[in-house]
Amino acid sequence: MKNKVTDKANDLKRQYDSIALSGDDKTTACDYQLRELEIDNGLNFIHDGDTILDVGCGPGVALQEYATKRKVKAFGIDYSENMVAFAKSRIAEVEPTAQIDFRCASVDDLPFEDESFDVVTSHRCLMALLDWDRQQKALLEIKRVLKPGGVYVMMEGTFDGLERLNAYRRKFNLTEIEADGQDRLHTLKFHEQQLADFCVDHFELIHTQRFGMYYFLTRIVQPLLVAPDAPKYDHPLNEIAKQIAKLVPDFDEIGHLVGFSWRKPVDSNANKQSV
Ligand SMILES: C[S@@+](CC[C@H](N)C(=O)[O-])C[C@H]1O[C@@H](n2cnc3c(N)ncnc32)[C@H](O)[C@@H]1O
Repeated sequence: MKNKVTDKANDLKRQYDSIALSGDDKTTACDYQLRELEIDNGLNFIHDGDTILDVGCGPGVALQEYATKRKVKAFGIDYSENMVAFAKSRIAEVEPTAQIDFRCASVDDLPFEDESFDVVTSHRCLMALLDWDRQQKALLEIKRVLKPGGVYVMMEGTFDGLERLNAYRRKFNLTEIEADGQDRLHTLKFHEQQLADFCVDHFELIHTQRFGMYYFLTRIVQPLLVAPDAPKYDHPLNEIAKQIAKLVPDFDEIGHLVGFSWRKPVDSNANKQSV
């Protein structure tokens, strides 16, 4: 079982190394309109003067927005050297004045001192760990580098949100979306209750951002509208869906991507379980 996970993880790393060479920043977020909604959510927690870190930063699209919309000291890590090289060259070209420190590292072994960051963000990175043990290790590593009172804005997929979306799709005779990475790449989503049970000892949940309206319009309405053609991420409806979702974000908590904002307690021993 562990070997299978390791093989899949190695395959995934190779895929990211190769994707990075495409020079296309949408390859790490096919649903690039959704990434914009994720970034809006991240921005709500980032303030001028903050030191921030984006883990699994890919080509640095989110960091570019964070570092230009806020006066921050920005860091990005990605385990793919090619991805880090892509992020550096991309930012030098599109936002040469942005000062972003990109480094090659894994999210479960961060090359930073304890309590370095006001905000850590992830946009679909911990799902790539493919293993709940490693995901827990990464959550603890993120907690380690957060300052007391700092916030981790975790934008990752959940099985629960996907199942709620699939329940709607079944009502409309649409095929179910597979849980392990219908977006080409193999991933391991989170079980919301399991995540909450783990995090309760380490963080305080301060906000949950759902994107249900965007999912409803793009994963239910669009497929019905364009059938028998296949839905497309660049369909004009997705742009409209994004605009609607900015005003009315949720629809029955459907959709796999969820933004959980976790605050590290000021006294981080406060909610450690006694053993
Ligand atoms: C789905 S992509 C998202 C990239 C970027 N956040 C975005 O929204 O465009 C996942 C990213 O996480 C990176 N990644 C996967 N596993 C990682 C790990 N263990 N440590 C650091 N980065 C990782 C991949 O190389 C890839 O760039």
